Amino acid sequence: MASNAQVEKWSPETWRSKPILQVPDYPDAKALADAEAKLATFPPLVFAGEARELKKQLAGIAGGTGFLLQGGDCAESFAEHRADNIRDFFRVFLQMAVVLTYAGGEPVTKVGRIAGQFAKPRSSPTEKRDGQELPSYRGDIINGPEFTPEARIPDPVRQLEAYRQSAATLNLIRAFATGGYADLERVHQWNMGFVKDSPQGHRYQEIADRIAETLQFMRACGITSDNTSQLRTTSFYTSHEALLLGYEQALTRKDSTSGDWYATSGHMIWIGDRTRQPDHAHIEYCRGIKNPIGLKCGPSLDADGLLRLIDVLNPKDEPGRLTLICRFGFDKVEAHLPKLVRAVKKAGRSVVWSCDPMHGNTISAVNGYKTRPFDRILKESLSFFEVHRAEGTHAGGIHVEMTGQNVTECTGGATAISEQDLSDRYHTHCDPRLNADQALELAFLVAEQLKKERDAEGRPEPKTLIA
Ligand code: PEP
Ligand code: CO
Repeated sequence: MASNAQVEKWSPETWRSKPILQVPDYPDAKALADAEAKLATFPPLVFAGEARELKKQLAGIAGGTGFLLQGGDCAESFAEHRADNIRDFFRVFLQMAVVLTYAGGEPVTKVGRIAGQFAKPRSSPTEKRDGQELPSYRGDIINGPEFTPEARIPDPVRQLEAYRQSAATLNLIRAFATGGYADLERVHQWNMGFVKDSPQGHRYQEIADRIAETLQFMRACGITSDNTSQLRTTSFYTSHEALLLGYEQALTRKDSTSGDWYATSGHMIWIGDRTRQPDHAHIEYCRGIKNPIGLKCGPSLDADGLLRLIDVLNPKDEPGRLTLICRFGFDKVEAHLPKLVRAVKKAGRSVVWSCDPMHGNTISAVNGYKTRPFDRILKESLSFFEVHRAEGTHAGGIHVEMTGQNVTECTGGATAISEQDLSDRYHTHCDPRLNADQALELAFLVAEQLKKERDAEGRPEPKTLIA
């Protein structure tokens, strides 16, 4: 099954000789080269040992144990780079993780779409408003969201700003993760607050009470966050779409321990649904770096195409190397997912199966807002679990666009956001995100599925929450 790509020599710049889609039209090639050269001198944002640790955790999930929670902004924004935004996202994300950990009785690997998620693929290179046509907004790392000719010119200096913001965000998150903010007792208290205040809260009371009992049991045994670091710290990883390859190349570094190349822009990077052509630049770049890789799988990917990509991206079949992030649309899961699952199983390839219930479920509301109905997001997630139950494979994760803020971007959920409500707090620069309550609600509902899986396998309820 060896493909040509496997035997061709790879280096961090070999992608430059391949066909490529979604490239910004930088007007000044010298300014771009200067920015990339500068980036190449900057320290790495993450280091290889961390990426290997994440890969190890993902290998466990590929083998059937554990769950991947991946989520964050569709696109991070320069204008909204504030400590409270980062904190609120991190808080909700931890809350989700605790619920999923307890329900599944297995470790949850936490990977944010954060500290580098800036570049966006677009379905059209231009955008029209009131008869005026301008280049599309491609994410803050490339151009500005304002609808003016100046803002839409790709500016390479933005890459330096994206690096600076990623470093600052990562620094704060590392402090939160290890400095006491992630204390399990606190996270649980926040969840109790959610259960009390949410209109559907009673549905989640039982699981919240059981987590409380478990914490009490652990306290009674003398296990507290004062004497057990696992209860007050957590591990958290970063991820983003590796779309802007000049930026990625500049941050690709050789690991001194192993001699391997790693993307140091984030722990995990993924390849978007629009840029996964096997002979194109994005696949070429990703095949050569050793980080865990995500691959978005949309309705246009068939089983042969997927197997070919697996061959190129993971020729040695290393568990944890490849996560397939499925995003078909709530009504297309049945038609697409089983075929892919069967083909991968038959070929005996190791992958993590994850569900992105967001990107196949975007619609236009009557008032023109781009939105995603919560019930479709939930339906896609549940169908994903059903398919894996039927195929005897492990539903390994979810991948969501979310924020810790109380925005009104997706309709539905327990607080029943209507299409008319969308204009109240529609803040996204790109796709509609789940707000804090919707994200937690989804976590509780997915947790019910994990519990089903645990019951079906006859695994007992966890007696401690130390993952
Ligand atoms: C995304 O994850 O923001 C995205 C653009 O996804 P996809 O490539 O699946 O459309
Ligand atoms: Co998106």
